[in-house]
Amino acid sequence: MKVLVVGSGGREHALAWKLAQSPKVQAVYVAPGNGGTALDARLENINITDIQELRSWAVSQKIALTVVGPEQPLAAGIVDEFRMHGLRVFGPTKAAAQLESSKAFSKAFMKRHHIPTARYEIFSDAVAAHAYIDEQGAPIVVKADGLAAGKGVVVAMTLHEAHEAIEFMLASGPDQNVLGVAHNQDADGKVSPRVVIEEFLQGEEASFIVLCDGKNVTAMATSQDHKRLLNGDQGPNTGGMGAYSPAPVVTPEVHGRVMREIIMPTIKGMEKDGIPFTGFLYAGLMIDAQGKPKALEFNCRMGDPETQPIMMRLKTDLYEVMMAATSGTLDQVELEWDRRPALGVVMAAAGYPLNPRNGDAVHGLPKAAEDVLVFHAGTREQDGVTVTAGGRVLCVTALGSTVKAAQHRAYEVAQGIHFDGVQYRKDIGHRAIKA
Ligand code: AMP
Ligand code: GLY
Repeated sequence: MKVLVVGSGGREHALAWKLAQSPKVQAVYVAPGNGGTALDARLENINITDIQELRSWAVSQKIALTVVGPEQPLAAGIVDEFRMHGLRVFGPTKAAAQLESSKAFSKAFMKRHHIPTARYEIFSDAVAAHAYIDEQGAPIVVKADGLAAGKGVVVAMTLHEAHEAIEFMLASGPDQNVLGVAHNQDADGKVSPRVVIEEFLQGEEASFIVLCDGKNVTAMATSQDHKRLLNGDQGPNTGGMGAYSPAPVVTPEVHGRVMREIIMPTIKGMEKDGIPFTGFLYAGLMIDAQGKPKALEFNCRMGDPETQPIMMRLKTDLYEVMMAATSGTLDQVELEWDRRPALGVVMAAAGYPLNPRNGDAVHGLPKAAEDVLVFHAGTREQDGVTVTAGGRVLCVTALGSTVKAAQHRAYEVAQGIHFDGVQYRKDIGHRAIKA
């Protein structure tokens, strides 16, 4: 069978790597892929990003299964387009993808279906937003409404920061704010910048990702991301600087609560609202000291970098899982996991997250080993050399008998890789190690 993975990040490299291991899969194409998927003899990059063009290519190639990695093509309706032409594709429709693409939609959805989340208000008027912040006090969280790759969120510890975030998000350019976040458009194309201002939640975060076939739900292994750029969870938010699986904070009891209180009400709520959810559903959770989970956000896809350690731990044939997930037979699938934890360290380009520099040569990439893989993200091949071509460049992912052992192994390999201006955190996994 021929399989297509849509996207170009570390997540897509990991999904493609895993799909290629299936004895039923003869070819894995990645559109558009990256320097790492170009190097891998079992993968082939396809340089098409336009959705209709990709669909007609997939029809002509008789692609048996398409797995979509990132949120943008999902929000643009790639699943609707592929399905309309009889292609088998795993992901949510454009309507269902609003759970991620619009914070205003997802917060209203959670309120309507009694899914625990932070209290919030939505504003498009800056004066009212400033007044609300003064009334609520700090710390407080300000979120741009629209896809922002995890970068449209300001966790303001002071009133000053919160007011500044409002200025940034509501008071600048007509099409996007200075953070580069596209504003939502209404039905007749009018651009309406909006912010969600919400209660600051305390606790520990975890990524809880499930597969949905429309009726059945199967949980993936849990994981934890590290959103901040710098050691000790300091600095600006990023797409994610490293992750590990499993997350000890998700005890079996917490796991049960998340399924009962967040995941199932979401799947049932979407069904009730007439937009049944298929695809990966990712709940970003905050778990308080009593083990009560609240949903910080939903994503309608796998996490990046969470996918990299999760795929390293998955023992079940991913192709078989995806076939079941696109046939409504997920109830017949039991996922099997490597008992060893896995941990991934993201190596980012100079200037990430605001202004990543491209074109730096990457040296010292190791050969793959049973217990360590270097998944590529922002890289490309240039005359036989791998060069940086994006913010997050690589994710060095290792298995170990403990989180500490996995961490040690990942850093051992990361230290041997170099490119000018490389940035990476030295403390990925610190919470699990403390636990
Ligand atoms: P989001 O894109 O909504 O997940 O937000 C990005 C990051 O901001 C999260 O991973 C959290 O670290 C932080 N964050 C978001 N909302 C809140 C909140 N209500 N309270 C505390 N931290 C938050
Ligand atoms: N790592 C966070 C995300 O994928 O949204």
